[in-house]
Amino acid sequence: MSMASLSHARLLLVTVALLAARFASGCDRCVRRSRASYYTSSLTLTAGSCGYGTSAASFNAGGEGFLAAAGHGLYRGGVGCGACYQVRCKDKNLCNTAGARVVVTDRARTNRTGLVLSSPAFAAMARPGMAASLAKLAAVDVEYKRVPCEYRHKNLSVRVDERRSNSHNELAITFLYQGGQTDIVAVDVAQVGSSSWKFMTREHGPSWSMANAPPGPLQLRMVITGGYDGKWVWANREVLPARRRSGEVYDTGVQITDIAQEGCFPCDTHEWK
Ligand SMILES: *[C@@H]1O[C@H](CO)[C@@H](O)[C@H](O)[C@H]1NC(C)=O
Ligand SMILES: *[C@@H]1O[C@H](CO)[C@@H](O)[C@H](O)[C@H]1NC(C)=O
Repeated sequence: MSMASLSHARLLLVTVALLAARFASGCDRCVRRSRASYYTSSLTLTAGSCGYGTSAASFNAGGEGFLAAAGHGLYRGGVGCGACYQVRCKDKNLCNTAGARVVVTDRARTNRTGLVLSSPAFAAMARPGMAASLAKLAAVDVEYKRVPCEYRHKNLSVRVDERRSNSHNELAITFLYQGGQTDIVAVDVAQVGSSSWKFMTREHGPSWSMANAPPGPLQLRMVITGGYDGKWVWANREVLPARRRSGEVYDTGVQITDIAQEGCFPCDTHEWK
């Protein structure tokens, strides 16, 4: 089998896997209803189970930088980490119509609300002067939809994560600042200039790892999918230097801006303002 057809076979596989997941979970872009509560401590969300750690504090989804924990259905076993949602509450006296944009950094530890927002995100849903009244409610009815993440001043980046110190060739990375409205479903690395790609395995959420990483500076390619579509995104230049340091964040030089392709109806395509 040639490299190209091998790649196609893998792409097809992940696409089929994603399609199956999609039919199970319904439409991403469509408006869904749930309840939302909020955390009083922002520490909870930066130390969230997606594994972003303190990097989460630098997320700036749609310019506001609000974080949220997602319930079972949105967290999707960690695949939902880094996805952005626009959330607004339904009480017209208390809440504005634009709501808040949030990025998922944690798994909600409750099934009683679909989303647990940071307290600034919760307050941002309020009409002027109503934030205190809104905060008195522990949970509110909301509607939400997935929106593209916009990192205006960041490319898709990878943080090198610490691994067991006795295995030098092990590589572990976490994706940061993932734009657009798609999921990363496969990641390959190769030495710069080489076409010998090796795949990484998802550890959890945005974190991927591999044993026996190629030596030297590394380039990356990713398969992203949303709805029906899958495609490769190439970072075919030096992304990780030969001497990479754990904890360091490296710019891939590319950003994802794709929107999920979906054929579901009815869908609310209006912008919430
Ligand atoms: C929430 O529901 C899911 C699926 O039914 C279950 O696996 C999970 O343990 C529940 N979580 C909590 C905190 O009850
Ligand atoms: C993103 O990467 C490109 C190179 O592909 C670079 O020119 C640009 O400055 C980077 N953008 C940011 C915001 O770092």
